[in-house]
Amino acid sequence: NWTMENFIDTEIQRIRNLVGPTAEVIGAVSGGVDSTVASKLMTEAIGDRFHALLVDNGVLRLNEAAMVKETLGDGLGINLTVVDASEEFLSKLKGVADPEKKRKIIGNTFIHVFEREAAKIKPRDGKDIEFLLQGTLYPDVIESISFKGPSQTIKTHHNVGGLLEDMKLKLIEPLRELFKDEVRHLGELLGIPHDLVWRHPFPGPGIAIRVLGEVTPSQVQIARMADHIYIEEIKRAGLYHKIAQAFACLLPVKSVGVMGDQRTYEQVIALRAIETSDFMTADWFPFEHDFLKRVASRIVNEVDGVARVTYDITSKPPATVEWE
Ligand code: XMP
Repeated sequence: NWTMENFIDTEIQRIRNLVGPTAEVIGAVSGGVDSTVASKLMTEAIGDRFHALLVDNGVLRLNEAAMVKETLGDGLGINLTVVDASEEFLSKLKGVADPEKKRKIIGNTFIHVFEREAAKIKPRDGKDIEFLLQGTLYPDVIESISFKGPSQTIKTHHNVGGLLEDMKLKLIEPLRELFKDEVRHLGELLGIPHDLVWRHPFPGPGIAIRVLGEVTPSQVQIARMADHIYIEEIKRAGLYHKIAQAFACLLPVKSVGVMGDQRTYEQVIALRAIETSDFMTADWFPFEHDFLKRVASRIVNEVDGVARVTYDITSKPPATVEWE
């Protein structure tokens, strides 16, 4: 009979048979559920012959790289390398305001950095790394076969074709028959911390598509701080698990405000929180007024460069989840 415990055992065995006694495997981690579960499973199967790589692209959430190092590396014993490529990504994003261009730049730079850093890892058997781990889920498999909608480019950063060809890697996808709730269950069984297992999704292009218009280090910092406060308050209010996804966006418009007896002229933060089952349609989350009041006041007071906070009350459709 099919149980998740049996799945773990058979999958570990399958990975060992596939990889053999000496070959090595590489995979990117993001701090999200799927790549963490896939990496932990791989570590259970082949230990340090699995190499996880976190590329810090400069548009991750606040303290994200340190958090991943602590949770995956120290906590879960995954053989992890963190590469800080922030400056490389941010310099390529300079002057670019178009959302799809930002996505392409981030996707291409990611492949470039990943290949370069992967080449620095020297397997013990003296050969090249042979396999690439991907945390692909069943819905991703279906989507890549059948999805031809206008936002097809959503998945551009998932395109590992380049890595497979250039680096001559073979793909391993241990989660490709699982749905998201099954991956979460698997994650719990593998001892992955609850908070990570139940994390909201985060887009590959990260904060770059939540800083509307041009992405600069100072804009990223504003969006990042506002987002951090917002998520902290959502957790404190016990609402995190009731919401499918929540984040702050930084709008590139200035607005007049008043702080003390000073007139201010600063930017605007838009907060988004949605309820959804499949992300194809979504409703905005009905926060209590006091909650919104508290978040708005904290953001304006604690984040330099923000004079006003708004809450996005548009459903999908017609709006998308992200603003870009
Ligand atoms: P939209 O904005 O299309 O978002 O309604 C639906 C879901 O997809 C995520 N999203 C992305 N994820 N790369 C990603 O990995 C992207 O370019 C991207 N764009 C949107 C979004 O966060 C939401 O969960």
